[in-house]
Amino acid sequence: MKKRLITIAVALITGAALLFPQSPVRKLPQATESRIDSIIRMMTLEEKLGQLNQIGGTWYDTKTERLNEEQTAMLKAGQIGSFLGITGAAETGRIQRMVMEESRMKIPVLFGADIIHGYSTITPIPLAEASSWNPALVERSARMAAMEGSAVGIHWTYAPMVDIARDPRWGRIAEGSGEDPHLGSVMGAARVKGFQGDDLLQFGSLLACAKHFAAYGGAEAGRDYNTVDMSERTLREIFLPPYKAAIDAGAWTLMSAFNEIGGVPASGSAWLMTDLLRKEWGFTGLVVSDYTAVMELMNHRIAKDSTEAGIIGLSSGVDIDMVSRIYLRKLSDAVRTGALPESVVDEAVRRVLRVKFVYGLFDDPYRNAKPEKEKELLLAPAHRDIARTMAQQSIVLLKNEKELLPITKNARTIALVGPLAGNDHRRDLVGTWAWVQKPEQVVSVIDGITAKLPKGTKLLYDKGCEIESDSGYRAEQAVAAAKKADVIIAVLGEAQRHSGEAASRSNLDLPGRQRDLLKALKATGKPVILVVMNGRPLTLQWEAENIPAIIEAWHLGVETGNALADVLFGDYNPSGKLPVTFPRNLGQIPLYYNHKSTGRPLVPKDKYTSRYLDVPNTPLYPFGHGLSYTTFHYGAVKVSSAAVKIGEPVTVTAEVTNSGKRAGEEVVQLYLRDDVASVTRPVKELKGFKKIMLQPGETTTVSFTVTPDDLSFYGLDMKRTVEPGSFTVYVGGNSVDCQQAVFNVVK
Ligand code: BGC
Repeated sequence: MKKRLITIAVALITGAALLFPQSPVRKLPQATESRIDSIIRMMTLEEKLGQLNQIGGTWYDTKTERLNEEQTAMLKAGQIGSFLGITGAAETGRIQRMVMEESRMKIPVLFGADIIHGYSTITPIPLAEASSWNPALVERSARMAAMEGSAVGIHWTYAPMVDIARDPRWGRIAEGSGEDPHLGSVMGAARVKGFQGDDLLQFGSLLACAKHFAAYGGAEAGRDYNTVDMSERTLREIFLPPYKAAIDAGAWTLMSAFNEIGGVPASGSAWLMTDLLRKEWGFTGLVVSDYTAVMELMNHRIAKDSTEAGIIGLSSGVDIDMVSRIYLRKLSDAVRTGALPESVVDEAVRRVLRVKFVYGLFDDPYRNAKPEKEKELLLAPAHRDIARTMAQQSIVLLKNEKELLPITKNARTIALVGPLAGNDHRRDLVGTWAWVQKPEQVVSVIDGITAKLPKGTKLLYDKGCEIESDSGYRAEQAVAAAKKADVIIAVLGEAQRHSGEAASRSNLDLPGRQRDLLKALKATGKPVILVVMNGRPLTLQWEAENIPAIIEAWHLGVETGNALADVLFGDYNPSGKLPVTFPRNLGQIPLYYNHKSTGRPLVPKDKYTSRYLDVPNTPLYPFGHGLSYTTFHYGAVKVSSAAVKIGEPVTVTAEVTNSGKRAGEEVVQLYLRDDVASVTRPVKELKGFKKIMLQPGETTTVSFTVTPDDLSFYGLDMKRTVEPGSFTVYVGGNSVDCQQAVFNVVK
């Protein structure tokens, strides 16, 4: 048996994220700051407000000449500082040329767009990518997206979305990294590094924008744009760390959220954007509002008119008004009447110009407008390779009874069934935030499987039903195909429109009649493999009880069919783990692993403990869960010292053995519990993880360094503290099945 030692500095990311020291303050050279000041001195008030004004373009339309007459005039008058959604090297170049040649101040515009999981080469949705627990690969994926984004003239991507989401009804859970602040911080930081690269000035680097600040994912009842109300403790411990991690990783921009938090809309919250972000964290970049969020301050009813909305937005710290045009239209009068000090405008302009300098636009306004790069990079074969690897690692094997998977050569006839398997739903496979795909660029499941079919194996395909509508339900035909087969693959799930923005659902079962179809397939008595494609956890209790093998495939992007076939036939051994809890039913929501103990923790036979009458407290599949075609055995957890002094780190090790017959990757997860503290602590918190590859029979000692920061929490006075006492540390392959050990922190 081979042995090797792997050491992970858990603290590197966690500590920084959770302690919230000031970010490494990114200052521009004094000479640049002075240049910015002198530019501001030369600007008229209208030109200043122009820098704070962002207008929307025609979305992802690659035709040129997309500005109308009014917009062209505004551009030349210096009334537009940035654009949303205008892409294409030729068009962005044309627009920039007008600015540089025909406006008085010649301040280059920024082109922003939502490049969330790829531009042309769409990779898995972010929630799926988080399931890889492979930040290095996620960084590569973001890098590739940035290359393609640069090639179409974009400067600035509105990503990563780092909102923690504990409610799968919320459609935008698809865009983030799930429920956990540590995983969310690691993934958010990886994406920022990928987008921005080592050098923002290089071609292929985009400015990142961490969004939506803050706590947009906490929407009540999972309904998009809804009210958020939570304690400052929960905000700081659970929801804020990923934004902070994104800033620490170098993000120069943030987007303010639509939602209110505890009575104050985020886009009008001076506490959030000035006190916390700028003063406490030391952020020197810019904040852009979400789409019309400044105008929506009126809907929130904290502003009586648009002038008041603009004053509140700008003075609380939103530098750029996305699309409302309120700053441009209303704030010059507000300054003239004395309702808004001009210095507040100047400060916001300073932040915008700073970012334009950081991105090198003053030296090369046309830096990304290179039409030849579009041809070279969009959907390049090397990009497809990354998308395929990313998709393989994003797949989570939820269940695999009697090793039904991978499909062996004994399966002479395979029945492929379901609306998401065929060629007519390829648009759905790329998931939310994918605009420019032509269906033929997406590898369908049927094409992926056909390309891999062992010689002599027959594939029978039947759609069986539509994703949602009742019409088109024809189980008999699917059953007829299934009866002829040795194994059935059912590819079911959600359409593209079911997740993402404004796509909350109050029922998380498979939409339409898909479960009926599955029941009919099961009734044939043939083994069924269920592949679910979705943008969020679904309620799969019936499926889990009745179907022997289940693959969670999310929305995997342009390489869906290939990656899935790799997993189905065993050319890739699945390694993904859930970044979010799968509930048994809707009534359990919100359900997350890092909950509190309560005064009456569940005692199975005691009615008067915290429980439901009709469903267990446990999830269907816990956070961190994911199977492999091999098995892993965890040895005892060891700690370097039974008594650790406050301020000192502790080393935690565990032996992990590949106890099965195939090589495979395992995500070794470390959780921590402060056993007794002055404020209630979660039953378990993820503090580190490592994805390792083991050959059959191979054993590795995985070692984690738990730092004082990892042991700390917000005390009664809301300051970070480490309290003496016992801690339990857990190591395992998911958040439930862990080995554990105890150590004491002493004074
Ligand atoms: C979304 C943002 C997005 C923006 C610009 C908004 O509706 O909430 O996430 O970046 O539109 O497209």
